Amino acid sequence: MVFFSAQPYDIKFFNRFNEPFGFELVFQESRLKPGTINLAEGADAVCVFVNDKVNAEVCKQLAAKGVKIIALRCAGFNNVDLEAAKANGLKVCRVPAYSPEAVAEHALALILTLNRKTHKAYNRVREQNFSLNGLLGFNLHGKTVGVVGTGNIGKSFCRIMLGLGCQVKAFDLIANKDLEALGVTYHPLMDVLKADIVSLHCPLNNQTQHLINDNTIAMMQPGVMLINTSRGGLIDTKAAIEGLKSGRIGYLAIDVYEQEEHLFFRDLSTTVIQDDDIQRLMSFPNVLITAHQAFFTDEALSQIATTTLNSVQQLLKSGNLTNQAALLV
Ligand code: NAI
Repeated sequence: MVFFSAQPYDIKFFNRFNEPFGFELVFQESRLKPGTINLAEGADAVCVFVNDKVNAEVCKQLAAKGVKIIALRCAGFNNVDLEAAKANGLKVCRVPAYSPEAVAEHALALILTLNRKTHKAYNRVREQNFSLNGLLGFNLHGKTVGVVGTGNIGKSFCRIMLGLGCQVKAFDLIANKDLEALGVTYHPLMDVLKADIVSLHCPLNNQTQHLINDNTIAMMQPGVMLINTSRGGLIDTKAAIEGLKSGRIGYLAIDVYEQEEHLFFRDLSTTVIQDDDIQRLMSFPNVLITAHQAFFTDEALSQIATTTLNSVQQLLKSGNLTNQAALLV
């Protein structure tokens, strides 16, 4: 099983849980792309992450190398051409639910940091600046929170925000009865976007691409707090920058970014970054960016490793999976 985009923590967690499976694991730092497919020579399965681009060409070449399985060690699968995988006889699996609380709790961390400015307070106090000017926040209690997508992560996030005394309004294609019983109310998307805080938890697909754009930003509350821990493509970055400049967006926190494959998961501290949009975003005092770390907890990494190894074992043995949510094609 050849891993692409492997980081030290992937090596640590997959090796830790591999013993009962007995796979030969090969870890490659490189992204999976046409130029790196040779690294998959002799593999039955490749294991990829969010920024490996598994397009039609890659699927064709993987199949030609004898690869049978593409295992995504993440929940989202917008980076895989599923039709091409199927056409080339490749099975594709993912980790449909691994500690949704990890992502939901990170969304909360972003909200609290942006609101109470603890990141700024930390630096100030270290420099013996004990002034409070510029650190004013607001109570979350009583505020309206709009949640787009109430699947595994959205559900966990709704419960957290209800616990803080917020009024939670949600939009999804299907309303969740358990959440309604807890007090969450479902509304059309445009009403949900009018909340004080809007948090995105839906997948990226043709319907949701640039869900947050010039038009939807114009309908949001002036000064809205916008949180995206889902996928970068949900937000039109240039529209968000304009929204921030005009003050329409009062706070923005993102753990995902449209062009993140050129930046995230790497140390670029000595590099001149060519992406002007991220540089502009980083220059706003009311923007907080984390580099796709919402999933990054011990519990989530353990779950990702065991689910992935289990799925690959089942697929190699029987060509099928008992957990159908994990099997994409
Ligand atoms: P899920 O599949 O359990 O839930 C997604 C929900 O979105 C479903 O309820 C679905 O009905 C809803 N949905 C689909 N299309 C929609 C639309 N057009 N408008 C509104 N709702 C729509 O997925 P889960 O596990 O909750 O993950 C959500 C997203 O979070 C993933 O797609 C992934 O992109 C992202 N994610 C980010 C991570 C990070 O580290 N930042 C880690 C894990 C997931």
